[in-house]
Amino acid sequence: MRQHVNPLSKNFDEIERIPSLIQMFDNSQLNLHLDIGCAAGEFLFDLALVNPNWNYLGIEIRERLVETAKLKVKEREVKNLYFVFGNANNILEDFQCKFIFKNVKSISFNFPDPWFKKRHHKRRVIQPEFINFLSNSMAKESLIFIKTDVKDLFDFMDCTISSNLHFKKIDNKDFNYSESFNPNKVKTNREKYVIVNELNIFERIYMKI
Ligand SMILES: C[S@@+](CC[C@H](N)C(=O)[O-])C[C@H]1O[C@@H](n2cnc3c(N)ncnc32)[C@H](O)[C@@H]1O
Repeated sequence: MRQHVNPLSKNFDEIERIPSLIQMFDNSQLNLHLDIGCAAGEFLFDLALVNPNWNYLGIEIRERLVETAKLKVKEREVKNLYFVFGNANNILEDFQCKFIFKNVKSISFNFPDPWFKKRHHKRRVIQPEFINFLSNSMAKESLIFIKTDVKDLFDFMDCTISSNLHFKKIDNKDFNYSESFNPNKVKTNREKYVIVNELNIFERIYMKI
């Protein structure tokens, strides 16, 4: 399976629309967490199991991974988890998806593709326009979590989000994880790999103000 797909390719112009909250979840009233670039969703399956008081929505651009994840949701009858295929930027910026931000309490970008070459930086998922869109859509006090093992990518994401005056940095040390979308600090697949290989993890939390 291809590891990297170009999100700016025309193949992703047409989007899968996010269904209504009632169609996606058993209890549509619960707080909603979005995980952008969720791969096959193992992280979200773990979270959905340990945290039935939250709904989880994963968006992933590799179609086969989303198909597999959707099958697994059906087989395991998980009622607080849903997956959508496509470029997260296009999907979320679609005006018909606006309704989800009523319930979104947090969004995670875990180990996004780094796109190392400068000419490919525009393929990175966090872009000034996207952060501007999120700042206009997210409710006050909702949170963005970023995590990566690539320092240059961290600086790029941190600078992009911090340049938007509607987000303020939260000190990770003061943050009460037990009240968040990830009360048990479940790790993503990439995070487990990074820990085993003793690489650095750069992370930050931002609050919409
Ligand atoms: C390095 S992997 C990390 C996967 C997972 N979050 C983890 O921490 O293990 C990055 C994932 O983001 C997906 N991705 C990249 N750009 C995306 C976009 N614009 N929209 C949705 N998914 C995207 C990739 O296909 C890939 O599965």
